[in-house]
Amino acid sequence: PEDKAALKERIRRLLAERDAVLVAHYYTDGDLQELAEETGGYVADSLEMARFGSTSPASTLVVCGVRFMGETAKIINPEKRILMPAQEATCSLDEGCPIDTFGPFCDAHPDRTVVVYANTSAEVKARADWVVTSSIALPVARHLHDQGQRILWAPDKHLGRYVQQMTGADMLLWPGSCVVHERFKGFALERLRRLHPDAAVLVHPESPADVVEQADVVGSTTRLIQAVAEMPNETFIVATDEGIFWKMRQQAPDKRLIAAPTAGVGATCESCAHCPWMAMNALQNLEAVLLAGRPEIEIDPAIRERALLPIQRMLEFAR
Ligand code: 13P
Ligand code: SF4
Repeated sequence: PEDKAALKERIRRLLAERDAVLVAHYYTDGDLQELAEETGGYVADSLEMARFGSTSPASTLVVCGVRFMGETAKIINPEKRILMPAQEATCSLDEGCPIDTFGPFCDAHPDRTVVVYANTSAEVKARADWVVTSSIALPVARHLHDQGQRILWAPDKHLGRYVQQMTGADMLLWPGSCVVHERFKGFALERLRRLHPDAAVLVHPESPADVVEQADVVGSTTRLIQAVAEMPNETFIVATDEGIFWKMRQQAPDKRLIAAPTAGVGATCESCAHCPWMAMNALQNLEAVLLAGRPEIEIDPAIRERALLPIQRMLEFAR
């Protein structure tokens, strides 16, 4: 069996030699999150990951996450080399919203402001007026609604419905969903809550409506981690990718964390709520990509230029 400590040490050395820094999403393996933090990198939600690239002086960013995160990093930092342990790691939201069908959908609704979730391809972003992540979706939609704008929203229908409910904005929804969050079951959560009446329920807004309705806190990954650290409850039921438990345990080691059920209470399992694409990131392929220095994330310059505008709009709004 491979000696994990030795592998981590080799990666540390490679990062220094290659002027590279790690940026990892909360859903990736705990070893990757730990290594990112130990080596001056960053562990974050989608919005903070996007911001980090431009503040880091390193010439190479190694993005541990899924493809759209690497693409966003490249769009914002074209001068940097962007590597990923698993470039083939996609996302069901991105896959379910191809530009070939999304473009004509936008053309059919020219009166609407196009708002797309960060979990989309560079081509889809290039077609948008705004890009948002879960941590900024509500304020952006409120802002557009206040200005009397009608919204075309893609691709996550659950997040879209939640934003619509909270803001009252006029939103036309694309029918996409996240394969991880869609598995959470409202009826099973109800039963689990009865077993743990003092538990606070934390839900990511990519979850179905009957799960979101039972939440004490609905929010981005960063918001949910903050809730575990700050709320007085001793027990939390968590409806998001289980990768987040590493950071929650680090921030609040004494709290009890229970995974929200993906079917009946008896059928809860550790691996039911883990993104298969986030899981493709590992120490082994991280070492391999650092050694090879490729493949880099490449984006067509015309697409990049166009996709930068809605991302910049989001980053400026978030400031
Ligand atoms: P956030 O980290 O922005 O909440 O996004 C969650 C997600 O599903 C990323 O793939
Ligand atoms: Fe996409 Fe869901 Fe995986 Fe996030 S957790 S990358 S939204 S499939």
